[in-house]
Amino acid sequence: MSVILETRNLVKFFGDVLVLDGVNIKVERNSVTLIIGPNGSGKSTLINVITGFYPATSGQVIFEGRDITRMLPYQIYDLGIVRTFQTPQPLKKLTVLENLLIARKHVGEGVISALNYKKWMEFEEELVERAFKVLEFLKIDHLWHEESYKLSGGQLKLLEVGRALMTEPKLIIMDEPIAGVAPALAHDILKKVNELKNRGITFLIVEHRLDIALKYVDYIYAMASGKVIAEGSEEEVINNPHVVEVYIGGG
Ligand SMILES: Nc1ncnc2c1ncn2[C@@H]1O[C@H](COP(=O)(O)OP(=O)(O)O)[C@@H](O)[C@H]1O
Ligand SMILES: [Mg+2]
Repeated sequence: MSVILETRNLVKFFGDVLVLDGVNIKVERNSVTLIIGPNGSGKSTLINVITGFYPATSGQVIFEGRDITRMLPYQIYDLGIVRTFQTPQPLKKLTVLENLLIARKHVGEGVISALNYKKWMEFEEELVERAFKVLEFLKIDHLWHEESYKLSGGQLKLLEVGRALMTEPKLIIMDEPIAGVAPALAHDILKKVNELKNRGITFLIVEHRLDIALKYVDYIYAMASGKVIAEGSEEEVINNPHVVEVYIGGG
């Protein structure tokens, strides 16, 4: 076992409000790690700080042994960490295929390689091929030419996963990937996550719907009021009295 991502005493203030209060988590390579917790407990903020969208107030984020705390979002993305959002954010006027094509950096756009027309065309072909493979894997290839605003909530979540897969990521961080998705499709999404784990991608997932999510995950952290209050297996976390209290007590 090796740790791919770690936070050390991560603290985030918004003004005077303490939202992350010394968060320590470890994500094992090739695992699906789940973060649960009531609304407002700091889960999305944790993702935003890890991925560089918000600066940490103090503490560290370590990825593959390297301190990435002060890096910018695109630098973190270039290291192989991609994220999906609680509300999917595709470009709605673009088709499903186009949304995948723009998710991938165009390495051919460097000044030198842009001069090499043949190389450029080959790169474009490869990109489209890869996009179709991703769409087939997610079983939304029949939607390739649809404008994204026509997709259902569940299909949009799959498109988000597809966009993440275009970059050959090491770690995918997902904010509520099955929120508002019908149960059958929610199971499909998490089954795909497990298939991808078996192909070597690590997942950190924030999710509310424990009834569906729990059986697909390897390790769980429970948060409340910006702190980790329990961690471990499903049994250890769900039966933890503190966790039961914040869930039943509504936080
Ligand atoms: N950009 C922001 N500015 C100020 N406060 C914020 C911001 N984002 C989140 N918060 C506050 O931080 C707390 C945690 O929010 P969030 O991380 O979204 O929780 P969760 O994802 O667990 O529901 C909430 O009280 C929220 O109002
Ligand atoms: Mg959230």
